[in-house]
Amino acid sequence: MNSSYFIETYGCQMNVADSELVEGLLQKQGYIQSESLESADVIFVNTCSVREHAEEKVHSQLGRYDLIKQKRPEVLIGVLGCMAQSLKHDILENKPYVDIVLGPDSYRRLPELLSRKQTIKQSQVDTTLSKFEVYDDLFPSRKEGINAWISIMRGCDKFCTFCIVPFTRGRERSRSVEGIITEVTQAVSEGFVEITLLGQNVNSYRHEGKEFHGLLESVAQIDGVKRIRYTSPHPQDITDPLLNVMGQYDNICNYIHLPLQAGSDTILKRMNRTYTKDHFMRLADKIRQKLPYVGISTDIIVGFPGETASDFAETIEVMNHVKFDSAFNFKYSPRRGTKASEYDDRVPEAEKQSRLVEVIELQKNHTLARNKSFVGHTESVLVEKESKRSKDQWAGRIDANKWVIFDKGLAQVKDIVPVEIIEAKGVTLHGKLINKAEAA
Ligand code: 5AD
Ligand code: SF4
Repeated sequence: MNSSYFIETYGCQMNVADSELVEGLLQKQGYIQSESLESADVIFVNTCSVREHAEEKVHSQLGRYDLIKQKRPEVLIGVLGCMAQSLKHDILENKPYVDIVLGPDSYRRLPELLSRKQTIKQSQVDTTLSKFEVYDDLFPSRKEGINAWISIMRGCDKFCTFCIVPFTRGRERSRSVEGIITEVTQAVSEGFVEITLLGQNVNSYRHEGKEFHGLLESVAQIDGVKRIRYTSPHPQDITDPLLNVMGQYDNICNYIHLPLQAGSDTILKRMNRTYTKDHFMRLADKIRQKLPYVGISTDIIVGFPGETASDFAETIEVMNHVKFDSAFNFKYSPRRGTKASEYDDRVPEAEKQSRLVEVIELQKNHTLARNKSFVGHTESVLVEKESKRSKDQWAGRIDANKWVIFDKGLAQVKDIVPVEIIEAKGVTLHGKLINKAEAA
């Protein structure tokens, strides 16, 4: 009988895509997906180190695996991804029940290490970082659905001082255009209609002279690609040619994730973010002007070392200026090995917490105001699934990445349909399907 695997994924979309890659490798070796964690022969956890909280979740999950292994000692347990890379020694010393530790550039070795583990008792470890590995020729195993994640580059060379990613995922490298186009074409033939191009620094993509905007254009021209999104970009690499390509192709979604992190120039400099407050606000203005009805989301860190009340007030000022459509807000979390973890002018926890509450509250108002500005406008919506509240309604996303609920009419899942936005409640929009005759 075939052995079975179970894989749990924490962290960013890159990890989701990497887990699909690992599943592809396992299935090639004859492994089948297990129904549950408890019945699997091999258990993997793909991990995230970006903040302490992410690591804590994995540690507690590993405790659960330990209990499973005590009941069934033949089970193999593997730790993959960023924590494997950054906590190898801790895992090997303190978690003897872990059999395999593989960093993000070592997944090709998984079949070999699994078969070695059958005969050798010691833990199998590979956390070598590569300057070249992009898994160009490997095909991920995707669950049926709407969206296919396609990884186009790996690693990060930006070295923001708060971030552990350059250490866990290594140097920046990009996949070949041909490899990406082949994978997109295959995903379309398997029924995926939305493609999300992925990379730690997606828009610093560069391969043999082709830059990100050129790649995006090539993907937009592939038959059957109804929608394209990309994540996660750096503001520094949002270029005019990129905004032009976005404006030119209907199937490239009008949505940009634009991580601000902080508003004050002093803090931005200390974070090594490479832009100023003023530059960021002008960039956001330009995006809104060039791409009408664009959605702009952001990441904000509060309580970075040395952030004074007046520095923080500048974050609020940028938020008020840009009015982001949504925001992911975080308290600064010191990460081992990063430059910022050495700064000793830390912001007290209570202060971090109150700043976090303030940005969350402000963002709620901005999200509602932005959503209201879509009322009366007709948007293209990709029908994704039945609404949770009613089987007579669909839920889909508009270009700007906002969910909208509307009566089903004759629309089908995976169709792109015109929907007039009639109401904005909290984070969700409500709309009315425009039938083809009215839309024409
Ligand atoms: N503390 C808090 N937030 C962090 N991020 C990255 N590193 C840290 C850290 N040490 C946030 C940034 C980044 C997002 C993915 O996670 O906002 O954009
Ligand atoms: Fe981390 Fe900055 Fe690289 Fe993003 S750009 S992965 S925040 S170092």
